Amino acid sequence: MTAVDDTRLETTDAPTMHGALANLDEEHSYWLDEVQGEVPVDLEGTFIRNGPGRQRIGDTPYGHWFDGCGMLSVFSIADGTVHFKNRYVRTPKYLKETATQQIQYRGFGTQVPGGLRKNIGRMPGNPANTNSVYHGGRLLALYEGGRPYEIHPGSLGTIGEYTYDGELKKSNVFSAHGHFHGPTGHWVNFGTGSMGFGRKGPKLCFNIFRIDTAGKMIAKGQLPVDYFPFAHDFALSAKYAIFFVNSINMGPVGKVMLGAASISDGVHFDDSLPMQIAIVDLDTMQEVRRIETAPGAIVHFGNAFEEGDEIVVDAMHSDQFDANEALSDIFNATALKGGEWRRYRINVATGALGYEVMTQTNSEFPTFNQRKACERNELTFSAASVENGHDSFFNGFQRITRNGDVQLHTLDPGFYGSEPLFAPSKHSAEDDDGYILEVVYDGFAHRSSLVIFRASDISEPIASLPLRHHLPHQFHGFWHDEVLLDVAKAGSPGLGT
Ligand SMILES: [Fe+2]
Repeated sequence: MTAVDDTRLETTDAPTMHGALANLDEEHSYWLDEVQGEVPVDLEGTFIRNGPGRQRIGDTPYGHWFDGCGMLSVFSIADGTVHFKNRYVRTPKYLKETATQQIQYRGFGTQVPGGLRKNIGRMPGNPANTNSVYHGGRLLALYEGGRPYEIHPGSLGTIGEYTYDGELKKSNVFSAHGHFHGPTGHWVNFGTGSMGFGRKGPKLCFNIFRIDTAGKMIAKGQLPVDYFPFAHDFALSAKYAIFFVNSINMGPVGKVMLGAASISDGVHFDDSLPMQIAIVDLDTMQEVRRIETAPGAIVHFGNAFEEGDEIVVDAMHSDQFDANEALSDIFNATALKGGEWRRYRINVATGALGYEVMTQTNSEFPTFNQRKACERNELTFSAASVENGHDSFFNGFQRITRNGDVQLHTLDPGFYGSEPLFAPSKHSAEDDDGYILEVVYDGFAHRSSLVIFRASDISEPIASLPLRHHLPHQFHGFWHDEVLLDVAKAGSPGLGT
């Protein structure tokens, strides 16, 4: 896709994705005035990405990709123009580590330097680095190991930890993968927690939260689980929340609590644990069916919807968790393949379960037109790792139709993308009436671009807008149909801290 001088490829090995792991410590705000192609005028709104903006404090790298401080990158798009602004979430972790230039908080895979004494009994910090959502009039930065942070949407200033009027208790965590409930406009999320103590210790559960369009938390539920699973995402249909309780066990937490090990040290795929599929009725918030199947793990889900007694669920399935080794040694990681794209059919009435494999190219980060959330959609996109002689993650993305037609876009060697986010065009009615927004890192120039494709055909981009700098690889993006940033004041420090 992006123009690369062929002679450079003949004489030079293409760069890996590691260049984009460099810190972006600076905060910017400017119009993207370099445009190759044309930004469509029926694309209007806010494209927000969240991810760790830095992987090092001073010369010290964090111990895991998940532990860098969250940085929001906001592309405001209107009238064929694009404005860019990035701003770190001012968590206590960000503020203290910035001031001291030292690691001050434990993380998923990071220990505070200084041994046991520095880690004993200390909970991991909240980097607010995984995803974002704008719902009920509030912009939140999300991280599954803590509560969300509220961000001023006009300035990206950090307002503070957000609790939904005290409904999220200090002990609650709130996943980075809530889902829109299409029929009502509600937002449903979950977090791992406990529902009291039993003879064996805490009785673990998933806390489930339902939030109405005004942003009020109107219902809660609890789903018991037998062990402490790595629980990152779930699927949502019109009637049900569907949890795949996977075979990735967080392991005994004793050593973690004592400070002798990080969470990542203990997390492992346990092939003696069957994967359980638990279905929760959204009206009653009660479990209505649980099905056991072969050991497995699903990190990310696409859409889900009902057809008669069946729920159809798109899911990225793995039978191992080798990815954690790459994530905890990110500066040396060479590949992250993603999962096998499965389309499950779950019969709620009988418990029958089946699936088909949708593509031979493994992938992650499925996205689709959110206007089709919880109903039958015809089109889903995902990030892919493609063998192109310079294998690394993620260097392609794919488009898959409901009937299984696959279109794969491979980036040139030395270019790396991530989650291909779907943005509907104004007045969009059909699944493919919109655009794919992909942030692409150019390893040759050490610079990133916003690249826009038509969702109906991803063979070539229709616009590419280089930033003035690189953008560290992010995790997840979010699209909202209005421009939220106060672009006229976007250069000012803004509200919040
Ligand atoms: Fe995720």
